[in-house]
Amino acid sequence: MVYIIKLLKPQKELDFPLMKALEIRRSKRKWKEEPLSEQDLSNLLWAACGITKEETKRSKSKRTSPSACNSQAIKIYTTTKDGLFLYDEKNHQLVQIFSKDIRDKIGTQKMMHSAPLGLIYVSDYSKMKNFLFKNDEIKWFFSGTDAAFISQNVYLYCTAAKLSTVILGLVNRNELHEVMNLKEQEKIVFTQVVGNPID
Ligand SMILES: Cc1cc2nc3c(=O)[nH]c(=O)nc-3n(C[C@H](O)[C@H](O)[C@H](O)COP(=O)(O)O)c2cc1C
Repeated sequence: MVYIIKLLKPQKELDFPLMKALEIRRSKRKWKEEPLSEQDLSNLLWAACGITKEETKRSKSKRTSPSACNSQAIKIYTTTKDGLFLYDEKNHQLVQIFSKDIRDKIGTQKMMHSAPLGLIYVSDYSKMKNFLFKNDEIKWFFSGTDAAFISQNVYLYCTAAKLSTVILGLVNRNELHEVMNLKEQEKIVFTQVVGNPID
């Protein structure tokens, strides 16, 4: 049976001055062991790439983050002590892939392994069908840009919600790819860790 976590409704009415968030945003690398609150997890994933316009018969859905040709090729996987999950933004829920804790694979820096939440940005090349995506070099480039927009959304939410976060390029992608049982056309772009700050 597939284990699904229905996320709380995201608090879209939350208020924080944008210019202030831009001014105080920082990469932070220290956190408490405790998991994020259910509300923060919901808000953060919605901020990352939640749906802001439902799909219609004629047009595809839109997300909080822009994406080249609206391919929406980036999928977010989360790692917690409870295992690996895929964020299903259409239903705002997390679908468990497996229950093994793989947080020690989130990045090559040891300090990252204790983060209660890891985000893995995976680009699904099979969604890049537009003529723009001529070859793998171009697909990799747009995977990087699309993932970076998502990461910045996470940074800004974390700033507003007083959470610690840092994006990670230092990742053993081959090892993580294997542990996650990803397909050949699924490429790990970056990871990002999040936690409650140590006061
Ligand atoms: C694409 C990218 C990859 C990064 N990879 C890492 C990383 O692997 N480990 C790390 O500690 N910080 C990483 N960082 C964070 C940078 O070190 C950080 O953004 C930079 O020092 C500026 O600090 P600030 O984010 O607080 O402004 C990365 C940042 C970017 C944009």
